[in-house]
Amino acid sequence: MYRSHNCGELRATHNNTEVTLAGWVQGVRDKGFMIYVDLRDRYGITQLYFDESQSSKDLMEKAQKLGREFVIQVKGNVQERASKNPNIPTGDIEVLVSELKVLNGSKTPPFTIEDKTDGGDDLRMKYRYLDIRRNPVKNSLIFRHKVAQATRNYLSSEGFIEVETPYLIKSTPEGARDFVVPSRMNEGQFYALPQSPQTFKQLLMVGGMDKYFQIVKCFRDEDLRADRQPEFTQIDCEMAFVEQEDILNTFEGLTRYLLKEINGVEIDKFPRMLYDDAMRLYGNDKPDIRFGMQFGELNEVAQHKDFNVFNSAELVVGIAVPGGNTYTRKEIDQLIDWVKRPQVGALGMVYCRCNEDGTYKSSVDKFYDQDDLAKWAEVTGAKAGDLICVLSGDTNKVRAQLSALRMELAERLGLRKPNEFAPLWVMDFPLLEWDEETERYHAMHHPFTSPKPGQLELLDSKPGEVKANAYDLVLNGNEIGGGSIRIHDKATQAIMLKHLGFSEEEARAQFGFLMDAFEYGAPPHGGIAFGLDRLVAILGGQETIRDFIAFPKNNSGRDVMIDAPAPIDDEQLQELNLKLNLKS
Ligand code: AMO
Repeated sequence: MYRSHNCGELRATHNNTEVTLAGWVQGVRDKGFMIYVDLRDRYGITQLYFDESQSSKDLMEKAQKLGREFVIQVKGNVQERASKNPNIPTGDIEVLVSELKVLNGSKTPPFTIEDKTDGGDDLRMKYRYLDIRRNPVKNSLIFRHKVAQATRNYLSSEGFIEVETPYLIKSTPEGARDFVVPSRMNEGQFYALPQSPQTFKQLLMVGGMDKYFQIVKCFRDEDLRADRQPEFTQIDCEMAFVEQEDILNTFEGLTRYLLKEINGVEIDKFPRMLYDDAMRLYGNDKPDIRFGMQFGELNEVAQHKDFNVFNSAELVVGIAVPGGNTYTRKEIDQLIDWVKRPQVGALGMVYCRCNEDGTYKSSVDKFYDQDDLAKWAEVTGAKAGDLICVLSGDTNKVRAQLSALRMELAERLGLRKPNEFAPLWVMDFPLLEWDEETERYHAMHHPFTSPKPGQLELLDSKPGEVKANAYDLVLNGNEIGGGSIRIHDKATQAIMLKHLGFSEEEARAQFGFLMDAFEYGAPPHGGIAFGLDRLVAILGGQETIRDFIAFPKNNSGRDVMIDAPAPIDDEQLQELNLKLNLKS
């Protein structure tokens, strides 16, 4: 038996008990006649001590040699501490050590294993196993476990069955690039790692599984951001014989349950917003509705006034920054510089101060009088003491820019409170999205999403206007889930694929298996997938998913700890019949 107790469990009630503990040396304080050692494991820290007057010389010498992160086992007696430490649960006791065994030594760790470490990001990633010993990382992983466990409990209790689907598949188009795996046994052929189990879960519905879920790894070769990893985890779900309303209700149920179980928060309402409204009011399809600052479109009140920048713009749009009139000129100039950064890309920003006395002072006073500016305030909802920020230009671009500014200002104003939760369904996404690069339409969600009833006919005449039976679940300004009601008949699927630019042969080659299945009694079905990493991060009050993944990739998609990706040797290449044709 390595241990009788863990390092987080001993209390005053254990006084005078003989115990055996094992763990890592967090720190040693050598006072000469007394040596104190903090012993750490996943459960906590227990103070050990070695007392010259009660211990052998041998034992004292052994204790003196202990270093940080040594793995040790001790036997000893639990004693009530003279000076208690109220900051840790074991702070009432300490263990007088009678036997010490070093199970393994340790080099000095490259950074301190403490809540606030001196290790930079790269170093901590390289030695991620040491980082995991730190409370913040360890607790994030435990937190993730709790969310995953609660999810399984809820979905199982609702009759969902967890089914595993394969990782070596044929590419499923979801908008990103595939990671591919060469097949040794099938020369010149490749598997793709799934971007999601989309087609398989639909086939499970054809197979009669009725309610499916899976906590599953997905792989997407796309540019990384704080909320994106090349391999990430979905809570993937599908249901047969359902309409959109059934899906929304079921997964509101899951979200409500998780918020209650994990955060102790009761959420009553899941408001719904049309995609078009989200874009108009927030410039974004995943608005954070924990705070206001809705967009006010100013074309009518700000155009035709000799200010050419606005006159020539497709959209003039502003937001009211609460209390923003206190900003100094310098602070406003900094804001203007902020929106002009290449990451945001605005050409400039017009502003208008709403003075406490009801007057206005704008950066374009030459063109607008007090009455004009009063209309700006009305449209943006600005009150005395606020600052109106206005951008103009091409509709899509300017919406994205003002949305970035809105989020930045909200962050600075402390309006994005991590322990406040505001879910939102965004509904009726466009079915298709024009892609400038390839100059053709792409499925906005994926090619298996059904158009809203009666809209199929519009596909030929106004493809960009067709709305989909698709919905996203947004939580605090993050897209945590997305899904749709699917097409379940071959004819509609064929029309859809045709509009996405697939010839009949290409459609057959790529999706023949699904179209075939649709001919054998496919039930109406639909589903959703949550991004588990994102969900966990947001429930944990953060937005960087990397902190909630045990072994994440860095921004270049590398695992710096195992040093992957890496070249493979010639023999392996030959076996796979692959020849490298490197540029350099
Ligand atoms: P979608 O592509 O919207 O839908 O993905 C579902 C959810 O997965 C999360 N997500 C990611 N999380 C981390 N890193 C990434 N690179 C990443 N990409 C996506 C998001 C997103 O909302 N098959 C469909 C679902 C369906 O129709 O049922 C799908 O994959 O939180």
